[in-house]
Amino acid sequence: MTHPTTAVAERLEDRIEHLASFNADPGAGGITREVYSPEYLAASDYVRSLMETAGLEVRVDAVGNLYGRWEGTEPHAPRVLCGSHFDTTLNAGKYDGVVGVLGAIDAVDRLRTAGTKPRRGIEVVAFAGEEPRFGQGCSGSRAAIGEFTRADLDQMRDRDGISLAQALSGAGLDPDRLPEARLAGDKYHAFLELHIEQGAVLESAGQAVGVVTRIAAPHDLRVSLRGEAMHAGATPMALRHDALAGAAESMVALERLARASASGTTVATVGVLQARPGAINVIPGEVDMDVDVRDVDEGVRSAVVDAFLAETEAIVARRGLVLTHELIGRQPPKACDEQVIEAARRACGELDVPHREMASGAYHDAMVLGAVMPMGMIFIPSAGGVSHSPAEYTEVADIARGVEVLARTLTHLAA
Ligand code: HGY
Ligand code: MN
Ligand code: MN
Repeated sequence: MTHPTTAVAERLEDRIEHLASFNADPGAGGITREVYSPEYLAASDYVRSLMETAGLEVRVDAVGNLYGRWEGTEPHAPRVLCGSHFDTTLNAGKYDGVVGVLGAIDAVDRLRTAGTKPRRGIEVVAFAGEEPRFGQGCSGSRAAIGEFTRADLDQMRDRDGISLAQALSGAGLDPDRLPEARLAGDKYHAFLELHIEQGAVLESAGQAVGVVTRIAAPHDLRVSLRGEAMHAGATPMALRHDALAGAAESMVALERLARASASGTTVATVGVLQARPGAINVIPGEVDMDVDVRDVDEGVRSAVVDAFLAETEAIVARRGLVLTHELIGRQPPKACDEQVIEAARRACGELDVPHREMASGAYHDAMVLGAVMPMGMIFIPSAGGVSHSPAEYTEVADIARGVEVLARTLTHLAA
């Protein structure tokens, strides 16, 4: 198995640590760098400088996606796109997305300094907004495939009610130039993303690399229960319409249905719960639950969501509550492209890196790009399977090895 040079590993480690310093909430213990925040924009300037140092021709598109191009010997041949994201969710880790952006810059820099110019150009990309600040994930890559209308940018709002359009303007971007962010799919040969696994499969199997074959996708919805806010002391139990107690039953039903699903790969949780009015001596009259259900099997995922809503209907009928729900977002699970999988498989073989083929439980920009171009992913281990947490960790030797595999895979795809 190859052992990446320590100089490569040290440079990657320094850059990861520096990127981690762009953090809106260091006191919480993790990294919070939400897209278009001041910390994100400062980090974007840093990533841009790294792309320029690597000799890439850099451009920023209308929604803040950052591209760095290395022309090939045939400028008109469809290019290879390679990258990930560097925005984070709340109080998260320093590796999610970051290893894919820094790894792509490092891999292209390595290929350039090796002196061999590939036939196809290679374009490094850092997509803006992979994390769901505005309710749904992958806003930058979804703008890049032309999925949004200008009106969507006004409708998508964050937890403080700021719209995506307002955040773009605040970042010095122009939401009216949204159409310019659209990539022409036929200009690209494939998209490749290096990412931490965010689960424990590789670590428990003792394997260094995962070649991703398919990517699970979310069906997210907001489920609201309405009961009656009443006095917590003077109201007999038999007369209560407690919306939060109803929501508790509903959440347990969701977990049971996901565990028992026909595919065995369904996962589900309620990541955001709001109860109103939120006073200890008032029976909660209103509850909103943001529900996230995922699977690689779209049919099973739909069946779980339908069964969850049916069970919640029965719970609210029994408790004298009212149920409403609205779609937050629903993406189709994606299969990775066989030619990209083969290029990664080949690279692992040539570098004598033990690897396994596996699904991704997390979604990624690659899932979105798969709608317009062949795509694939390379995973590296997450210590303890932990991610979206301050405890997220990946050995720098694993990162450097992943970048070696990425660079070799790019060589095959760009030939
Ligand atoms: O939620 C996800 O799967 C991704 O990490 N944003
Ligand atoms: Mn993430
Ligand atoms: Mn990610």
